[in-house]
Amino acid sequence: MNIIAAIERRYSVRHYDKRPVPRDIVRQVISAGRDVYPLCPGIRVHWHTAWAGEEVRRRLTRSLTTSGLSTPAPHYIIATSQERPGFMENLGFCMEQLILTATAMGLGTCWIGGVFTEEKLRDLVPRLRTGERIVAITPLGYADTSARARMARQLLLWGSDRMGSRKPLRDIVSRDIWPVPWTGEDENLDWIFQMTRLAPSWGNTQPWRFIVAERQVIATVNSAPQRGNIREGKPYYRLDGGIAMCHFYLAAQAMRWPGQWTSLGNERATRRGEDRLEQMRSRYGIPDEYDILGIFPLPDSMS
Ligand SMILES: Cc1cc2nc3c(=O)[nH]c(=O)nc-3n(C[C@H](O)[C@H](O)[C@H](O)COP(=O)(O)O)c2cc1C
Repeated sequence: MNIIAAIERRYSVRHYDKRPVPRDIVRQVISAGRDVYPLCPGIRVHWHTAWAGEEVRRRLTRSLTTSGLSTPAPHYIIATSQERPGFMENLGFCMEQLILTATAMGLGTCWIGGVFTEEKLRDLVPRLRTGERIVAITPLGYADTSARARMARQLLLWGSDRMGSRKPLRDIVSRDIWPVPWTGEDENLDWIFQMTRLAPSWGNTQPWRFIVAERQVIATVNSAPQRGNIREGKPYYRLDGGIAMCHFYLAAQAMRWPGQWTSLGNERATRRGEDRLEQMRSRYGIPDEYDILGIFPLPDSMS
C-alpha cells in the first residue's frame, strides 16, 4: 500500500486482535519513525516501544476509549519530544508519517493524546531526558475485524463528534483572504486539500484552516480553549495542525511538487518574528484566536 492509499484507508483502530506483531515488523515501524521528514529539524523526537500493551492500558484513564467498547493492543508506541517552540506541530508532523507507514504495513493505530498523564507513563520511558515531554501514544497491532468489533466501533462512532466525518473544503480553506472560501480553483491543489482534510484530530475537531494567497499556502490552527485541547501545558491543537500539514506535504510530494513547509513555530520567540506574524495576520485577515504555523510555497507551474 502506498502512502496515499494509507491516508485514504487509515482510521482510529480501537479493537485489536490479541496476536502480537512480529518484532522485526515493529522495529521496521520504529525505524521508519526515525527516518521521517521533520517540520522543525532541530527538535529531537523519540519513539519508545512498550512491548506489553497491558502495561500501558492499565495506566490509561478510564474513558470510552479504554472501556469495554475497545480492546487493548498488543503493543504501544510512546512518542516523546524536546519541549521547544514548535514541538507540538513537529511531533504531529513526524508521528503521522510513522502512523501512515504502520497503516501501509497493514497495522492498526490510534492517536491518543487524552487518556494519560505523563507521570503515569514515565516509568515506561526509562531513557526520558531532561526537557523531554511525553506527547502522544498509539496502540500498535492487527485490527480485530470480527462482527463484534465492528459493532462496537459503530457504537463508539455514534457517540462521537461528527461521527468521524470531515468538514467540507470551503470551511477549512480560504482563497486570498480569510472570509473567502476556496472553491476548487486548481485541480491539483484541490486534491492535495482533499488528502489534507482526511487528517485525524483530537475529538475530530479539525481545528486547522489554510489560506491560499500570493503563491503560497499558509497553515493556521484554532487556539481558542476547547475541551481537552490543552493538557498538561501542551497545546494539542498545534499537534492537530502538524498532522494536517503532514498530509498536505505527503500529497504534494505524491504530486512531485518540490516545496516543503517553513515552520513559523519559532517566530514568537523574537520581536521581529512577532511583527512578521502580525503583518500576515492583518494582510490575510487571520483572526486572533488562530495561530499561524507555517508557509508552503506553491510551484511555478500553478496559475
Ligand atoms: C492529537 C490526537 C489525540 C487523540 N486522542 C484520542 C484519545 O485520547 N482517545 C481516542 O479514543 N481517540 C483519540 N484520538 C483519535 C480521534 O478521535 C480521531 O482521530 C478522530 O475522531 C477521527 O477519526 P479517525 O481517526 O477514525 O479518522 C486523537 C486524535 C488526535 C489527532
